[in-house]
Amino acid sequence: MIPESFIQELLNRVDVVDIIDKRVQLKKAGANFIACCPFHQEKTPSFTVSPSKQFYHCFGCGEHGSAISFLIEYEGLSFVEAVTELANTIGLQVPNEEFSEKININENSKLEEALKIANNFYQGQLRKSPEAIAYLKSRGLSGEIAKRFSIGYAPEGWQNLEAAFKNYKDETLIKAGLIQKNEQGRYYDRFRNRIIFPIHNAKGIVIGFGGRVINPEETPKYYNSPETPLFQKSYELYGLLAARKEIRDNRYALVVEGYMDVVALAQHGIGNAVATLGTATTLFHIKKLTRYTDEIVFCFDGDNAGRTAAWRAMNNSLSALTDNVQLKFLFLPNQHDPDSFVRENSSDAFRALAKEAIPLTEYIIKYLTQDNDLVSQESKVKFLNELEPIMKQFTAKKLLLLFKKRIAQLVDLDIQEIDQIFKIKFKNEVIKNSASRNNRIPMSAIRRYCLFVILEPDIATLVDQEMFLTEKIDDQLARAIIEISVAEEKKNTASIMHLLSSRFDQEIISELQTQLASLDQTMDINKEADALRLSIRKKLSSASKKTVLDQIKQKSLQSLTEEEKNFLRNMGKG
Ligand code: GTP
Ligand code: MN
Repeated sequence: MIPESFIQELLNRVDVVDIIDKRVQLKKAGANFIACCPFHQEKTPSFTVSPSKQFYHCFGCGEHGSAISFLIEYEGLSFVEAVTELANTIGLQVPNEEFSEKININENSKLEEALKIANNFYQGQLRKSPEAIAYLKSRGLSGEIAKRFSIGYAPEGWQNLEAAFKNYKDETLIKAGLIQKNEQGRYYDRFRNRIIFPIHNAKGIVIGFGGRVINPEETPKYYNSPETPLFQKSYELYGLLAARKEIRDNRYALVVEGYMDVVALAQHGIGNAVATLGTATTLFHIKKLTRYTDEIVFCFDGDNAGRTAAWRAMNNSLSALTDNVQLKFLFLPNQHDPDSFVRENSSDAFRALAKEAIPLTEYIIKYLTQDNDLVSQESKVKFLNELEPIMKQFTAKKLLLLFKKRIAQLVDLDIQEIDQIFKIKFKNEVIKNSASRNNRIPMSAIRRYCLFVILEPDIATLVDQEMFLTEKIDDQLARAIIEISVAEEKKNTASIMHLLSSRFDQEIISELQTQLASLDQTMDINKEADALRLSIRKKLSSASKKTVLDQIKQKSLQSLTEEEKNFLRNMGKG
């Protein structure tokens, strides 16, 4: 038996888009990806894959499911084979022991413990190393800042961590990425003679390290922990733990490229910066940050690499864009990075630049017109061609409209003509129409609220649980959705659907899936959910009033209790 917790973990970690894209060529369309359905014959694509919901759905044949069910259906694998295959893609081992659930939890806490011990060791070594301290000083960092970021030092030598761990050859140390084993079977430290930057998760637990050489001759300049069950580069941001408060206070987050940039900015009083960990900015990074702010300023070096990175970040962020999130781009002058800029100039100069960061759509136009003067008809066509794939990914409705208007002006067309050329239509509009045709049953407020909870499980609260788990609501599916969403710690759409599918009939799940797929993806889920919750609560409370009233009506006036009399007196007051 594979423990349910492992399946949940797996569905939280893998990306269904990746899994399917390797087998069926997907094309981006709005917030989703589409393809001709691999499960039935068709000429125009009705198979959609949703990165945010983590499932696929075919509007033609109704096939749907998670990454696991895709492998089962498409590759003909058994459940266990599909799970194993998926686990392999992200380097997880499928547990098979009887008490594997417990072992798995222990495993993670063992890794956490090892990283914590190593972190303490490295910090202690920094205090003992004049050379490492001198290096940090030479980069303008104070002891206070080093402490704030728990910066450490891994000394020269091959087995320094022997001093920190009782059993140096413990497999846990290898799994944690602290120790490596060579072909001769010798064990040695992964980080040697490097400044160590611990990477924390949102709970404040060390999940990995970045190490920078002190000796400029050595390569590579930076070296990170490998990906482990605790640490996945494309999900994590360096410095987020330290920056959260200042991101909220400043009302924007800065995304920079390097560890040193985050630390140097903090040294100069700019504490709202985080860095990606040597990867391009991902959708997950943006989602993480928008929990704290609605404005994100990407800060890039003023060189070619910086410009390329910015364009990639723009492309990766498009599907996280809503009319409530602002993305901006800041380019530093003359080969500067944030660290060198703030040191050579000042924090005020840096803040001033951040203030003038270019908004997303302006940046797109600027980028595409840097070598294009838009004078000839041909150059306008070239511009429109380059713009088309970007426009089609736009998920912010109002911004898209304004953007189209601006584009229309630039190429001397009007908005209708732009629409005609691009055939821009929000995917959800198309879907809504097709869904309303075969979905005539009106959805109750409760059911609709539950759909939002499946999409954004964090919406569900303990208060909801109280509200839904009374006998007043007899929709078993709704009750289960709330129950699961409140109870599960790590959860996303796919993992919740998976849990539901073991409790309910395939038909019910199938209907739910269709409703989910048909939801408007551009609306503000949180706001909608708030409004629905309120109206459900009102309905529930007026329903309970009605029950009380019905009971009272059965009674004679004399036999009424004081409480019942009060109820009647207060009735008119709403
Ligand atoms: P300093 O030279 O210390 O100022 O670092 P930097 O941040 O200016 O370096 P750079 O712009 O070259 O790199 C930015 C980020 O890319 C670093 O913080 C690392 O996360 C990553 N990076 C750079 N070089 C390497 C490398 O050689 N290997 C790996 N794995 N990552 C690197
Ligand atoms: Mn630098």
